Amino acid sequence: MDKPIVFDPYRIAPNIDVIPSWFPIPGFGILPIHAYLLRAAEPVLVDAGLVSLTDEFMEKLSSVIDPVDIKWLWLTHNDQDHIGGLQQLLEVAPKMRVVTTFLGFQKMRLFQPLPMDRIQLLNPGQSLNVGDRTLLAVRPPTYDAPETTGFYDPKAGAYFSSDCFGTLMSEPAESAAEIGSRAVRDGLIAWAKVDFPWLHQVDKSHFANILNQVHKLSPEIILSNHLPPAHNMTGELLQYLAEVPASEPFISPDYMPFKANAERRTPNKDLVSAAHKLLLTGRYLQLATVTRAGRPSLRNIAYAVDNSKIYFLTGYASDKYREIRENPYVACLISMDEEEWDKTRQLKIEGQAGLETNQQTINSVKTLLGEKYSGMRDLPPAPGHAIFGIELKTGYLMDNSKEQFCSEKFVF
Ligand SMILES: [Fe+2]
Ligand SMILES: [Fe+2]
Repeated sequence: MDKPIVFDPYRIAPNIDVIPSWFPIPGFGILPIHAYLLRAAEPVLVDAGLVSLTDEFMEKLSSVIDPVDIKWLWLTHNDQDHIGGLQQLLEVAPKMRVVTTFLGFQKMRLFQPLPMDRIQLLNPGQSLNVGDRTLLAVRPPTYDAPETTGFYDPKAGAYFSSDCFGTLMSEPAESAAEIGSRAVRDGLIAWAKVDFPWLHQVDKSHFANILNQVHKLSPEIILSNHLPPAHNMTGELLQYLAEVPASEPFISPDYMPFKANAERRTPNKDLVSAAHKLLLTGRYLQLATVTRAGRPSLRNIAYAVDNSKIYFLTGYASDKYREIRENPYVACLISMDEEEWDKTRQLKIEGQAGLETNQQTINSVKTLLGEKYSGMRDLPPAPGHAIFGIELKTGYLMDNSKEQFCSEKFVF
């Protein structure tokens, strides 16, 4: 993904839709920038998308509700990734009022006039009745703007947390559970250090008390603007946030390393094509995963390959199935063995493994495996086994036949 994009909305709870956007940050991954539609008796839109994608956001929003029917726009805060559709909504939804704090209102007036009769001032601790439920305004444990106000909907068991629980990711996902615990932890801590640098100054026991306030509400679902919907993950997410004050602070890259990083991420065509040749000629590969205890785990596997992924098959009860579902980061090694060490070549690939659910992909992977390995010609139909695809990210090509020992790193 090289530019921001709005995806189609989808339902994430009986009366809640997400309008998902994704924002790539070169060198760091992608950040979800989601807005939510709470279909209460008086419909509530929670934030209004990115400023740079206002038209696309309004189009997707209109596919799930006629904007005229929106009664409340709950603006969690006034950052540019939350207020994209504000102006258009004020025009097309005449009954709509904007829920914000006094500071939020004043900040909005810095960039556009706003009639007071379109505003509903509300502070953390106060409530808003939206017809069939009462929303409790809360200050999330972490925030990057002082007007930030999220809310808890006791009827849906949903905690709308604004920027809090934001997570840097490597690829889009529809739910936080899909990402895997390790990737959520790493991405959440990484983003928290960037967006809430003040966390390194807070007293840890005081912060624990603040986190405990969310725990006491025991929400079933956390709806952050920067994390895919997280069902039954509240304890886990709070635990990751609690780790941030003691972590190493984030140091902003200055221009040069940032540029070098961007250059390093440009694929080297020769190395990528050499890697593909090795992948196509290799018979087996060694697959390394990480166990729940953080220990490395290694085995030889049969595999198939296409242009973008390595595929393999495994049983649902296997160690690798469990390990990858918990932590999708894997490494693979293919070795072209020769009698003499100075003629050997090796390819190491680092990537992320994901369960393949597309039936067409599953069928074509089975055909490829059957063509390569005679023992896999008549595979029983799913669901006896799972097929994983490893997205190729970084490669290391080691060619000992070159005059000097040669090991080159590249991206796919
Ligand atoms: Fe923000
Ligand atoms: Fe934000």
